[in-house]
Amino acid sequence: MYDENFEHYKNARNNGGIIYNNEKHCWELYTYDACKYVLMHDDIFSSNSKYFGGNGGLSFINMDNPEHKEYRNIIAPYFMTSKINEMRQDITDISNELIKNLQFNSDIVKDYAVELPVRVISNLLGIPKNDREKFKEWSDYIIGNKRDDNFAAINNYMIEKLSGLFSQNPENGIMSVISTANVNNRNLDLNEKIGYIMLLIIGGNETTTNLITNMLKALSDNEDIINNLNTERNIHDFIEETLRYYSPIQFLPHRFAIDDTDINGIHINKGQRISVFLGSANRDENIFDKPDEFILRDRNEHIAFGRGPHMCIGAPLARLEADIALNDFLENYKKIRIDNKKSILLENPMVYGYQKMFFG
Ligand code: HEM
Repeated sequence: MYDENFEHYKNARNNGGIIYNNEKHCWELYTYDACKYVLMHDDIFSSNSKYFGGNGGLSFINMDNPEHKEYRNIIAPYFMTSKINEMRQDITDISNELIKNLQFNSDIVKDYAVELPVRVISNLLGIPKNDREKFKEWSDYIIGNKRDDNFAAINNYMIEKLSGLFSQNPENGIMSVISTANVNNRNLDLNEKIGYIMLLIIGGNETTTNLITNMLKALSDNEDIINNLNTERNIHDFIEETLRYYSPIQFLPHRFAIDDTDINGIHINKGQRISVFLGSANRDENIFDKPDEFILRDRNEHIAFGRGPHMCIGAPLARLEADIALNDFLENYKKIRIDNKKSILLENPMVYGYQKMFFG
């Protein structure tokens, strides 16, 4: 995703904001109201491609209610803010260690922003220390950072490892609730259990990596803001503004009209696919004053974590990691300057973040 796309979003909003893409065969929604409307109405817009010729997808992110809720509720207690905050010290320790080892010429993506969330998730899941490297490698394949023929071997290894962990009847934590969960009077099968773990890896790693690098970019571009980041409130506002301005997920490509319907008077046929452009909604001039400026805002109702029933379950964890990372960078560096020439944005239009990032 490149910065020019924000211009394309603006044109799309000026042209009504609901546009049919003939190449991708889907409706694209660019205005805040239309995006929020679709996300809030899972009774009209399904997340499950199975009904429309697709293959279903991964765990509960691709289910509709009431099934979705049953599966989501199994792990929901582990992602509540109060529970997540218990991880603050562990995450701080990980961040301290990573920052201590950063050099001026380090790739901040590889050496900090990727490492932090992967280590946090493996702690959360209780992956044994000597399997962390393999877990990291497996995650890299799953999120597409690594593509070669070795996937099958590591995939088999991790599936065996995880089924071993499940069968040891873990006493507490997420592995234990997934292990013993009961949906419709039966336990989950191994595929469903592994699907959960994969969803957490996909949902929680690259997105958080991107939020961290995007905060550093925002700090580098808005030098005066650094002096204002001296209260908890301002730190919070800065994280929220980064989520709005550089939304890590730019669009959600999978909603399907369950029946013939309309959005703001535009007719949508049953089964048609809809892409929800969060990155454009978050720059909508009808909602945000001066949307193309990076400002610490009193009200910031961005939808970077989505809305409605599928709203990100990991938001408290992502916010905590961002808070710890930001405070750690501010403590260790007087100024954050990023080398814009050497740093490279990710090419995937669905996400905003960096492949590589260097200090300048
Ligand atoms: C800055 C970081 C993050 C961003 C921007 C983000 C964004 C999102 C968005 C937009 C959705 C809604 C998807 C939809 O409506 O189809 C979502 C769902 C989800 N996210 Fe996140 N996410 C982040 C971090 C995390 C973390 C840390 C985890 C877990 C460790 C996580 C796990 C999930 C899961 C499991 C879902 C599915 C929820 C459901 O279907 O009920 N995310 N996320």
